[in-house]
Amino acid sequence: MSDIFNVANLIRSDLEKLIPYDAYLYPGAIRLDANENPFNFPEEIAREIGNLAAGELVTRYPDSDAKELRQAIAQYCGVSPEQVMAGNGSDELILNILLTFGTGGRVIITNPTFSMYRIHAMIAGARPIPSPRRSDFSIDVPALVSYANKPETRVIFICSPNNPTGNSSTLEEIESVLHQVNSLVVVDQAYLEFGGADCTPLLNKYPNLIILRTFSKAFALAGLRVGYMLAHPDVLRQIKKVKQPFNLNSFSQAAARVVLKNRGLFEEQIKEIKRQRDQVYRQLLEIEGVTPYPSVTNYILFRTNYSSKVIYKELLEKGVLIRKLGGPELPGFLRVSVGTQEENKTFTEALTTVLEQLRRSGQDAK
Ligand SMILES: Cc1ncc(COP(=O)(O)O)c(C=O)c1O
Repeated sequence: MSDIFNVANLIRSDLEKLIPYDAYLYPGAIRLDANENPFNFPEEIAREIGNLAAGELVTRYPDSDAKELRQAIAQYCGVSPEQVMAGNGSDELILNILLTFGTGGRVIITNPTFSMYRIHAMIAGARPIPSPRRSDFSIDVPALVSYANKPETRVIFICSPNNPTGNSSTLEEIESVLHQVNSLVVVDQAYLEFGGADCTPLLNKYPNLIILRTFSKAFALAGLRVGYMLAHPDVLRQIKKVKQPFNLNSFSQAAARVVLKNRGLFEEQIKEIKRQRDQVYRQLLEIEGVTPYPSVTNYILFRTNYSSKVIYKELLEKGVLIRKLGGPELPGFLRVSVGTQEENKTFTEALTTVLEQLRRSGQDAK
């Protein structure tokens, strides 16, 4: 190491406190931590996608405008292609929104919610401001509007249905925010295929609305990283200034088109995931000491009287990976993704055993 070089002297001071997002892999564990589609990818679609990996799709740079994919998305969502931008997962689009509009300003985040809004706000050099949800996890519209109308507020994030709480905002709530603020309102609808109010009808009425969607959840493409946003063409023209020209690789663009073309096959899976979700919810209600929260998504938030760290660790030892939450906003809370029927059974049985063991060992509840 050079005597004169110290990397700590070069890092932006506002990044000092940022803890990188770590997604650990636990080989062999049942993965109920990331809200993915748990089913096997339909074989006929996999074959069609696999056959694409040849020729110019591989040797040439991708279409930087993702024209054909945007057309397919526009048709799926009932909007025009000029209202669509595709990204390398919706994560990339969140960062691009914040790099375009957020840097140096305030970004309002309706907590508890998806952690990447705060992380990307910090990366973009914006100031994340939490606007707490009510105790039933609905958004507090008057409070949100008063936070939003402070100077230098650039972007507001509303996740609906919300991760990790599983509830959706109503169109009336979203519309009420949209017409009372002069900042951009990003409504993240990553889980819309499972339920919740669709905000697309508001798009033509409110030029400050951005809707985020993804192929990672219902459409099972998390590994290929395809997200998209719907917004007014003027807003997208500004965001294009910061977008990497070749952000979405050709293979993923083509794969997402194949998925949309065959979406009937996923609709069956979505129905089954919703059936399983309702069953897991009912089973959680029956386990002593567990409080689950109603969900319109493919995951369920729940709480026990023990520390979420302890429950998480004990479940992992039994081969089940879920998401631990906690902190002052969600003390004792955890989130479980809906898996296959067999995975859900393993999870509910493991949770029952863990809680019995904790009670028997006399371990104090929190
Ligand atoms: C609310 C929400 N938005 C966005 C994402 C990121 O999705 P993508 O895979 O498209 O980056 C997630 C992933 O968990 C999410 O829960």
